[in-house]
Amino acid sequence: MLVEKNLPLQACNTLGIVARAHALVRLRSESDVQALLTVPQWRGHPMMILGGGSNIVLTGDVRALVLKVEIPGRRVLQDSPRAWIVEAGAGENWHDFVAWTLQQGLPGLENLALIPGTVGAAPVQNIGAYGVELQDRFLELDAVDLETGQSFTLDAARCGFGYRDSVFKHASRPLGLAGRALITRVRLALPKRWRPELGYADLERRALVHGDAEPTAQQVFDWVCEIRRAKLPDPRILGNAGSFFKNPTVTPEQCADIIARDPRLVHYRLADGTVKLAAAWMIEACGWKGKMVGQAGVFERQALVLVNHGGATGGEVMTLARAIQTSVYERFGILLEPEPVVV
Ligand code: EPU
Repeated sequence: MLVEKNLPLQACNTLGIVARAHALVRLRSESDVQALLTVPQWRGHPMMILGGGSNIVLTGDVRALVLKVEIPGRRVLQDSPRAWIVEAGAGENWHDFVAWTLQQGLPGLENLALIPGTVGAAPVQNIGAYGVELQDRFLELDAVDLETGQSFTLDAARCGFGYRDSVFKHASRPLGLAGRALITRVRLALPKRWRPELGYADLERRALVHGDAEPTAQQVFDWVCEIRRAKLPDPRILGNAGSFFKNPTVTPEQCADIIARDPRLVHYRLADGTVKLAAAWMIEACGWKGKMVGQAGVFERQALVLVNHGGATGGEVMTLARAIQTSVYERFGILLEPEPVVV
């Protein structure tokens, strides 16, 4: 197993921030992970798990050993009466995996098309878009405990999924697994009784234009790709980490209080009685669209996305993020919570 030294990370993070890893190792199998943990030099050494780098802000060179997860493989594992069980290695590109399932004639992941990143990172974030979250299709995952080298399998309940949240984002014991569990494989259950999920306004509009006939999964996939391409910057062209903040959830009373002052606040009632606020709307209302700090900016077409106009540092991105948090807090009394992990 080759440990690369002093490696540039610019191509390994979708924000395109310039930083270096003091040491990086590419892991292509579960046994690579286990072999690494037997090397005395690395036992107990701080480690950082890196997938597609689509959800991190690098604020300097990384001293921890970077574990670049490149475990390949995708297969239809089982054809059960209710669902197809599909499995992918954690290093597979998420969007390519979604496209592959559709090529196999298996619908269910089309709403999650074009989300940057790897299969292994999908459960960490519980990725979601256009009315579907990973947890809606999740069966289980395999992981290796970086402290003990033991392999284990977790079902959905033990992953503790929430909105852009899971046990893999929390370090506190006994349940938190951040930095400790290296996900190697993910298995999803794609239900055989498929119906298009068109609840999200942008998709609903396209379905209306399309007419009465129910769209196919491939059609929904194409629409999702079109919507995302129109709204969100392609990280290969303009560095970004997707939505930079989560959409905050408040009580109906808090929402009514804000609406009394800002009647145009965009909000959605959730099934549990709480209300989700559109963070993008609040950021835009505070005048941030298109603004910059150094080379870090707020995307012109989607205020929830922070972009790197070329040569931005992680510090500039975080200064901009904090300034946005302050002004949204001062105007709405809401503290926006960043989505990406700051390294
Ligand atoms: N809006 C504005 N200004 C803007 C953009 C949006 O006022 O610049 C308002 C509009 O009223 C719009 C509403 O905010 O209807 C919601 O915007 P959008 O549909 O673009 O979705 P979002 O809430 O900003 C979330 C996810 C995205 C996901 C989309 C579609 C989060 C944090 N973000 O964004 O996920 O693709 O919905 O489901 O939940 C990601 O997590 O990286 C991500 C891109």
